[in-house]
Amino acid sequence: MTKIVKLDESNFMEVVEEASEVLSKGGLVVFPTETVYGLGADAYNTEAVKRIFHVKGRPFDNPLIVHISDLEMFYRISRDVPDKVLDIVRRLWPGPFTVVVYRGDIPPEVSAGLDTVAVRMPAHPFALKMIECLGHPVAAPSANKSGRPSPTKAEHAIEDLKGEVELIIDAGETLYGVESTVIDFTSDPPILLRPGPLTPEELKSSLGIEIHIPDFVKKAVKVDRPRSPGMKYRHYAPEARLILVESKDYKDLKDLAMAVVDIAKKYLNSYKVGVLASDETMHLYRDLGIPILSYGSRSDLYTIAKNLFRRLREMDSLGVDIIITEGFRDEGLGLTIMNRLRKAASEIIHI
Ligand code: TXA
Ligand code: MG
Repeated sequence: MTKIVKLDESNFMEVVEEASEVLSKGGLVVFPTETVYGLGADAYNTEAVKRIFHVKGRPFDNPLIVHISDLEMFYRISRDVPDKVLDIVRRLWPGPFTVVVYRGDIPPEVSAGLDTVAVRMPAHPFALKMIECLGHPVAAPSANKSGRPSPTKAEHAIEDLKGEVELIIDAGETLYGVESTVIDFTSDPPILLRPGPLTPEELKSSLGIEIHIPDFVKKAVKVDRPRSPGMKYRHYAPEARLILVESKDYKDLKDLAMAVVDIAKKYLNSYKVGVLASDETMHLYRDLGIPILSYGSRSDLYTIAKNLFRRLREMDSLGVDIIITEGFRDEGLGLTIMNRLRKAASEIIHI
């Protein structure tokens, strides 16, 4: 049985206590963070941690992120962390920023047996209080079935996990809508494993840290020996077949839209087709007479990122067989958006 609780100002502490109680008994809780909803277990309870993998259908070699509420927890679960990295996390936490460091006192199951651990302190008042109340770090991947788009609303987690977890906390839509930036600090220079809300450009300008951006972050390439085990698998994918259309520089959006229209026309007669567009191009698709949804304006990449996973799920709800999506420029938050779209896509067309 899954209990679903709506969070509001009046029941905040009551729900915090209920959630930490469930976790302390080895249960699983879907909880809000500022990025996406997480599927949490007490990180020191190996049976509960193993259950996360079963419930998600997650491959056992794909490690989880450990969520903490204070730096004492970080000192305990990590080891040999350079002062430079401590300075960085002191400045960036709580926030959508995950560091991979050497693993200290925490069961190897959370890290799929690796000698490293991924850690972050989430910037959501509920998540922080729940972890604090439990007194243990919380291991939590995104609260979706493996391979599906990450949940940015409780409804998405309910869709995927109802009946398989003890408690789902509904706190409305998440702030960023894409998962945290993951950086491996066991390498020098540090390596960007997953782009997120905090961009390499921002890290450079605010903290002066140089981060290596490997090719796999930008490309939909198959990597033989992935650095982050999560990279091996197709991710974020809607049920429908997703065709991503990329332009060289996105200077001429009419050209981009024309290519999308051509592809749509190719499939229209035999399949139910939908288009994911931007505010700037929406009007160019009206004549197609098919479902068209916008991610938002190209001038506001935060909104595009926030709506990304939700729109993919909405297209599935409309019952389309094929989704054609516009791409975005690879800069700043655009890199994060394109990383997700390329992993979700069945096919990428360059114009
Ligand atoms: O925003 C987020 O990070 C969300 C919320 C719930 O906090 N969590 C999340 O977790 O996205 P998950 O499990 O869906 O993604 C974790 C990513 C995976 O790509 C995984 O391979 C990588 O982090 N990862 C975890 N531990 C690692 C490690 N020790 N070394 C390298 N990569 C690691
Ligand atoms: Mg995930």
